[in-house]
Amino acid sequence: MTASYKIEIQQTGDSFDCAADDAILRGGQRAGLGLSYDCNVGGCGSCKFEVVEGEIENMWEDAPGLNPRDVKRGKLLACQCRPKSDAVIKMITMDEFVPQTNPQRFAGKLEMIRDLTNDIREFRFKSANGFSSFQPGQYALLNLPGVEGGRAYSMSNIGNDDGSWEFIIRLVPDGKGTNALFKLNEGDEIEIDGPYGMAYLRTDAPRDIVCIGGGSGLAPMLSIARGVAAADGMDDVKVHLFYGARGPQDLCGEEELKALGQSADR
Ligand code: FES
Repeated sequence: MTASYKIEIQQTGDSFDCAADDAILRGGQRAGLGLSYDCNVGGCGSCKFEVVEGEIENMWEDAPGLNPRDVKRGKLLACQCRPKSDAVIKMITMDEFVPQTNPQRFAGKLEMIRDLTNDIREFRFKSANGFSSFQPGQYALLNLPGVEGGRAYSMSNIGNDDGSWEFIIRLVPDGKGTNALFKLNEGDEIEIDGPYGMAYLRTDAPRDIVCIGGGSGLAPMLSIARGVAAADGMDDVKVHLFYGARGPQDLCGEEELKALGQSADR
């Protein structure tokens, strides 16, 4: 069994158990704590923290989320560090980061692959435990065979009761993650970790919504538009989608958007 360590946040006194193979950020989120973050993959710097006591392993020393001044001051990224002992840390926590659904790590079986363009595919995974609770616009980390670290992709569907997690993903010619993903066959299983992300639909906001994206960036827009169509009390909210691509051959999702427009009549 994987060892687990107790992590205490010095400012609040909150603590949580974090598995030795889990990132401190994700361990805290799994426990329902509002640890500050955004990208989850070392790029944004929103999850900076300091170690007060204890031993921590840094999985990505050169992560772009830290600048040289941060490094000099001993700051680390909670999404790129895992515990090697019990520890006390200093880190920003806020209510707005408390997860709507505590993220889980679970096995996802690839149930369907569909070509949308010559390099964009739709993938549908089914969770083995039936878990598929997330907010429209959120993302999950896909842990792919032979690839170090999870890759973050937005879901294109909305939370559901049948365990489905759908993604629209473009093959990046030199991208390790997408190359591994595009080699998967229906029936293959990977580990999925989610949901995460702060750019999700707020169903209590009365304003119209503007979504701008291109190529496979359609996924979160589709999820948000579907979320508005499915939400109670959002009948008067208009969704404006601005979607572009390099050429007509790179556009996808027309069918889905048309169906959505008809069903929602907006
Ligand atoms: S959440 Fe973006 S660098 Fe950690």
